[in-house]
Amino acid sequence: MEEVLALIEEKKHEFAQGPFMKFLQDKSIDPRQRLAWGPAFAPFAMSFKDFNKNVLRKEPSDSKLQEMINQHSYEDGRHWIWFLQDMKIMGYDNPMNYTDMLKFLWGEETQKVRKMAYDLFAICTFEEDILMKLVVIESIEATGNVALFEIAKVAKELQQITKQCHPYFGESHYAKESGHIQASMDDVEDYLKSIQLTKPQKKKAFTLVEKVFADFTEAMDEMLVFAQKHPYDLPFTTTRNINQSRTAA
Ligand SMILES: [Fe+2]
Repeated sequence: MEEVLALIEEKKHEFAQGPFMKFLQDKSIDPRQRLAWGPAFAPFAMSFKDFNKNVLRKEPSDSKLQEMINQHSYEDGRHWIWFLQDMKIMGYDNPMNYTDMLKFLWGEETQKVRKMAYDLFAICTFEEDILMKLVVIESIEATGNVALFEIAKVAKELQQITKQCHPYFGESHYAKESGHIQASMDDVEDYLKSIQLTKPQKKKAFTLVEKVFADFTEAMDEMLVFAQKHPYDLPFTTTRNINQSRTAA
């Protein structure tokens, strides 16, 4: 597993250099605009609840690793509640036609975000090798760790405007995303490194790491395009260039 973790680390650094991260770091853009992709991220944020509960979790657990995955699933599987709170705080809880909302959530502009969720379900639902699920979790956690680190910095700026804590975008969420599976164990990383993989397992694991990172990269690139086209106060209806919103209020 050590080589797989090394690949994840490499992909993590690559992911951290992407255009989405640069956008989050650009202080010339209003923090609300830098997080204007939030509503479009809903298909993933909400599906993640089911992914943790129905795909990753297995009760009662039949191994130490499944027990760790279960613990992880209870933690990560409840973060959607924070997402809803943030959407409310950010003013996206306005009444909207049900059918318009459905069109938005399953629309053209959230395709990659949905695909990212679908692929995770596709990879893990019928996967019988728990180590492959672990590889997927480790890859997801690496992307989450990098993205939430940058997002939390934007949320700090946002807090100056909203005067409220942002449970999903803020530091408290980042604090929960250590970059590794969230299980009550002191030496998680050492334990993971000590796991031996066969050659075929290693080969499959490398493919899965590449796949998860490719999906997250495409999804976050899609979110960047969304934030560039939708003013933060009109995310559902208007698609146009938002150069006028580039300066902080
Ligand atoms: Fe999370």
